[in-house]
Amino acid sequence: MKEESPHTGNHIVVTGGAGFLGSHLCRALLARGDRVTAIDNLSTGRRVAIENLTAQPHFTLRTADVSTPGAFADLATITHIAHLACPGSPKATVRRPTDTLRAASAGTLAALDLAASRGARIVVASGPESNGDPRNTGQAGDFQVHALSTLLAEVIARHYSGVDVGIVRPFEVYGPHQWPGDGRIAATICAAALRDQTVQVIDSDVRSFVYIADTVDALVAMLDSTTTGPVDIGGPAAVTTAEFAHTAIALAGSGWLEIAPADLSAPTAHSPDLDRTHALLGWRPSRPLGDGLRYTLDWMRTILSYPP
Ligand SMILES: NC(=O)c1ccc[n+]([C@@H]2O[C@H](COP(=O)([O-])OP(=O)(O)OC[C@H]3O[C@@H](n4cnc5c(N)ncnc54)[C@H](O)[C@@H]3O)[C@@H](O)[C@H]2O)c1
Repeated sequence: MKEESPHTGNHIVVTGGAGFLGSHLCRALLARGDRVTAIDNLSTGRRVAIENLTAQPHFTLRTADVSTPGAFADLATITHIAHLACPGSPKATVRRPTDTLRAASAGTLAALDLAASRGARIVVASGPESNGDPRNTGQAGDFQVHALSTLLAEVIARHYSGVDVGIVRPFEVYGPHQWPGDGRIAATICAAALRDQTVQVIDSDVRSFVYIADTVDALVAMLDSTTTGPVDIGGPAAVTTAEFAHTAIALAGSGWLEIAPADLSAPTAHSPDLDRTHALLGWRPSRPLGDGLRYTLDWMRTILSYPP
């Protein structure tokens, strides 16, 4: 049975709509009455993340690669695009380096071309690595493709002329539908705690953990604004991964914390400039870590029997 919702008149294309950020964004946009077309090749995203949306009359999933001709064919009336189609987890970028770089380059150009041809506003996901710190963007090995893909998307978006573009830099986003096994730190910690395993974290590693609902509020505010940014999307406070893990273990009631010595060659943590984001968008993160972690653990308990 399809549920009717009052329509805002917006038609928003969410590339990567079956992914972690994209699936939550699609849900929020539909809830306020936007029409949403998700475009996703289901390479890292999962159909299960959006399965309860497919019955909604204003939602369409188009299974396609954003960088291929025809992905956007027939989308005549578009008001906004949220461009999130790029593997987001470190493991996925290592497994699929060419796909990742193609999505970040050709995919971003195709999404910008679509925005330009339809007069739509486009919001492009970058990442904290794009602040230009050479110690990060120049890292060899696993981190290089991930850092380069976010930088590529941001640079292409910044220099594409004749389009209303906004750039967002989400920091360490956590929440339901971030699957354990894909190498992201928050999901790795939560899964290990629930499995009563050792949770290993690096000493003095500090991150800006931001709950998915806060992140979605910021993405929606960015779609609705006219600012280019870039805007940082970070959590209410910088916490060490040890504090994050300690809270997860306490809430799960299981798991053991092991703190490994700091790796001095690892990328240095960035701090989000949330005063600037507030000045540009009127947004600040508001969900406390304990609440976000409780919701994340509740969801993860339900899926831990799935294959990783
Ligand atoms: N989650 C975070 O903490 C975070 C932080 C910084 C930046 N970002 C950026 O935000 C974006 C989304 O991240 P996420 O965490 O949702 O990642 P994700 O991997 O969960 O989702 C990406 C989605 O895009 C789809 N996709 C990938 N390549 C595609 C292509 N060529 N065509 C169509 N669909 C494609 C995948 O199937 C998946 O559904 C990425 O660009 C990521 O780098 C995320």
